[in-house]
Amino acid sequence: MTTSSEPLTIAAVGCGSRARTYTTIAMSLTGRYQVTAGADPVAERREAMQTISANPDFKAFETADELLEEDRLADVLIIGTQDNYHFEPAKKALEKGYHLLLEKPASQTMDETLELARLAKKYDRKILLCFVLRYTDFYSKVHEIVNSGRLGEVISIHAAEGVDAWHQSHSYVRGHWANTGESSPMIIAKCSHDTDYISWLMGSRCSSVSSYGRLSYFTEKNAPAGATDRCTSGCPHASPQGGSCMYDAHHYLGKQSSWLRMIYPHPTERTDEEVLKWLEVSPWGRCVWKCDNDAVDHQVVNMEFENGGTASLTMTAFDCGRGLEIYGTKASLRGGDAYEGFSNASMAIRDHASGETELIQLETADDDGYKGHGGGDYGLVNAMDAIFRGAGSEDSLIEHAIEGHLMGFAAEESRLKGGEPVLLDSLYRSME
Ligand SMILES: NC(=O)c1ccc[n+]([C@@H]2O[C@H](COP(=O)([O-])OP(=O)(O)OC[C@H]3O[C@@H](n4cnc5c(N)ncnc54)[C@H](O)[C@@H]3O)[C@@H](O)[C@H]2O)c1
Repeated sequence: MTTSSEPLTIAAVGCGSRARTYTTIAMSLTGRYQVTAGADPVAERREAMQTISANPDFKAFETADELLEEDRLADVLIIGTQDNYHFEPAKKALEKGYHLLLEKPASQTMDETLELARLAKKYDRKILLCFVLRYTDFYSKVHEIVNSGRLGEVISIHAAEGVDAWHQSHSYVRGHWANTGESSPMIIAKCSHDTDYISWLMGSRCSSVSSYGRLSYFTEKNAPAGATDRCTSGCPHASPQGGSCMYDAHHYLGKQSSWLRMIYPHPTERTDEEVLKWLEVSPWGRCVWKCDNDAVDHQVVNMEFENGGTASLTMTAFDCGRGLEIYGTKASLRGGDAYEGFSNASMAIRDHASGETELIQLETADDDGYKGHGGGDYGLVNAMDAIFRGAGSEDSLIEHAIEGHLMGFAAEESRLKGGEPVLLDSLYRSME
């Protein structure tokens, strides 16, 4: 490990969107980090990482395996590959002596997640999970308020995650997370952040989880009459034919163009004709009611905690933004994106004794333009070097932050068993 006056060295397996975001932020924090190596099969992404690093000695590899065959090249390895390829490189990297910045979900299964926690302990390495919401102004303020005792004892929590209908179609119907077998269940892929902050705020172990949910809307029976398999095949509901389908893939060239850059490198350097040709063959050109998706579009999760507290989480494609309600013995707190839309305040705290409500408006995050995840991406990287040097809060390390994952996997197990409760006690014991 480097000394505190030297930059912390980082390398990346997968030079995609997340890894490039973290390394770009790291390099903006002058002198604190050095990016030494990156692996990605796509040359353009390796080159982009090399450019971000501004390091003439940067080492580029085509695969994670090649990077991991070398002697350790950095203090910390970012595992920024897709969900189905976290466990293998993470395991090898721990064996090589790397600390990890591990994208969520830690892995695709409960067993592998527990195994990574065990390996971190065995090799005395730290795994920092990318639960960026913990580092946002909003959730860190809520955590501070809960810990201050102002709400009294937290008795119950209700959280909602409105994925947004277009986002659902882009990511969980047409996109990377549409097939749970190839990626991870929706409640893990999208909501491990939510189960994570619920357990973080409750401050007690979750003992039991039950869940219901299904894919209701994005199925063939809801396709409008005459819809073609692809929006670009003359579908009567697509804009070139005068249609008004909100999921029309032609919107990638218009009001939804910001989503294109996540899947199509440098879209602004391509002509519309090139993008249209790509939509004719790409998964993102398919009719949203005629895909091979199985990710749920709504799910509810009920949780009971060892301290007697309870929580519920609603995930739905059909709202936009997160909402949070915390019911404490002294006061209740309401807040989040959904709340802000109605009230122009970030959160409201109602005191039970006085009946008075205080509105709290947080400053808009101004973090050098890195507003990703409400400033959480910046907050994570800003906190990261202290954490890996042993000086920062260890709250987000896998041994303390695994619970959100376990709750998510348990929720999926329960959902598949028709809502049967899943007890978590034996899982905790298996980690001891
Ligand atoms: N923390 C968060 O809030 C958050 C947000 C979005 C995504 N994620 C997670 O981050 C991860 C990465 O997401 P992304 O959007 O950056 O994905 P991405 O597809 O942009 O990047 C993944 C990269 O891995 C590369 N890759 C594939 N096989 C490889 C191999 N064998 N060796 C090395 N590289 C390989 C791909 O070419 C690609 O560039 C996912 O697991 C995703 O779920 C987390």
